[in-house]
Amino acid sequence: MQVAVVGSGYVGLVAGACFADLGHEVILVDNDRQKLAALESGQVPIHEKFLPELLERHRGRRLIFSGDVQAAVRKSAAIFIAVGTPPTEQGDADLSYVESVARGISGAIKGYKVIVEKSTVPVYTSDWIRKVMLRNAAPPDCFDVASNPEFLREGTAVTDFLYPDRIVLGTDSERSVSVLREIYAPMTDGSYYERPDAVPCPEGAKVPPPVIVTSSKSAELIKHASNAFLAMKISFINAVASVCEAVGANVQQVCEGIGSDRRIGPRFLNPGIGYGGSCFPKDLMAFRSVARECGYEFRLLDEVKRINEEQQQRFLRKVRSALWTLRDKRLGILGLAFKGGTDDIRESPALLLVQSLLQEGCQIAAYDPAAMKRAQEVLTAGVEFASSAYEAAHGADALLILTEWEEFRTLDLGRLQREMKYAIVVDGRNLYDPESMVRYGFTYYSIGRAAAVPEPHAAAAGSSRKTKKS
Ligand code: UGA
Repeated sequence: MQVAVVGSGYVGLVAGACFADLGHEVILVDNDRQKLAALESGQVPIHEKFLPELLERHRGRRLIFSGDVQAAVRKSAAIFIAVGTPPTEQGDADLSYVESVARGISGAIKGYKVIVEKSTVPVYTSDWIRKVMLRNAAPPDCFDVASNPEFLREGTAVTDFLYPDRIVLGTDSERSVSVLREIYAPMTDGSYYERPDAVPCPEGAKVPPPVIVTSSKSAELIKHASNAFLAMKISFINAVASVCEAVGANVQQVCEGIGSDRRIGPRFLNPGIGYGGSCFPKDLMAFRSVARECGYEFRLLDEVKRINEEQQQRFLRKVRSALWTLRDKRLGILGLAFKGGTDDIRESPALLLVQSLLQEGCQIAAYDPAAMKRAQEVLTAGVEFASSAYEAAHGADALLILTEWEEFRTLDLGRLQREMKYAIVVDGRNLYDPESMVRYGFTYYSIGRAAAVPEPHAAAAGSSRKTKKS
């Protein structure tokens, strides 16, 4: 099938590459000429597993890049809108790019087309797209608008696309459902998964994925409500972690206990320094704003946000309680991306913490496996960028783990300990087992678990001086 994807950002690029891998002919449209030229020349603008392979496989063949939205619409049976919906100052989503695409494609509608929202948008957006297209003389019987939200996580976006928990098709017309079903048929009939060159199946994937057909409004709400629920789950466990710290319980044991209830489930129950990224903070506020406009004050979402912000302050207090004063302390920082497996630093809690520590006069040596280049553009003064975790730890008064990179779970702890001035680790992602950290001589602070202190220093837990290495 011939499809167009408008917008070559995260969602658009991944969707375009995956549709091509499913066997469709894809035109990826963007109005940024430089970006198109970079994609055409083989560059991959985002750090995403399997994306370089898919782009390489289909570029110039089943996947072509274009700046001409009208020509792309004329050739395609379905047009996916995947442009940005950044937050406005009031917290709601700015839909002007979506509107401008809707206007732009109206004149090219000849013969039946399905216009599909892929960007994260508030409820009623598909109604608005339809209205805008009608105002701009698109023939009413020649198109339907559908909502087909994505649930991609950065870092695993390609496998999330090809092995989703569900495919949501939100539309109010039978005709558009059958076009969308045909597009996803290689997944839903299982044929894609039998191909020897298919992207490998991740553990626990539902194959073939179920399809959920809803109204377009329900589909729009499914996307916002899913992200809000996941953010709530994280804030919930962070709040439980604070109680664990107060009473001397272990949040990991609590998570195992509650997560094994199938109604709750173990995923997204990792306590940490709070959620970040380009989706949860923005979508939570957009959903809050949508609800308010509809006459419902969704105060629960305010609380989710408040707990998330407080989690940062709690972590800073933990660093202070480990080191006493912070001015001129040398801190090794592991992780700058908003989560592991990505180079994205948007709304990164790690970056916000580094900025606060710089304000308190700390000297920072930071390392991230992928996000250093992007972080250098933001952290322009006061940070040394190290070429490895060990270099970041070298001569440090303490090491702070801020991003859950797999690479950080498997460090040579003996070597790390030898690099540091004081063997103190403050782990904002609970990557290590407190007992094994103590065996390596670390004083180890984590989230929702008691501080672990080597025997000779136990009486002076919290004092950096007492953990100085001989
Ligand atoms: C999120 C959703 O998980 C996707 O389903 C959704 O499609 C996407 O937003 C979107 O709307 O585009 P993403 O932002 O890539 O995906 O990242 P997540 O893996 O969800 O992590 C978000 C934040 O929560 C990160 O800062 C992460 O460190 C934090 N987190 C996640 C925790 O603190 N604890 C957890 O248990 C899980």
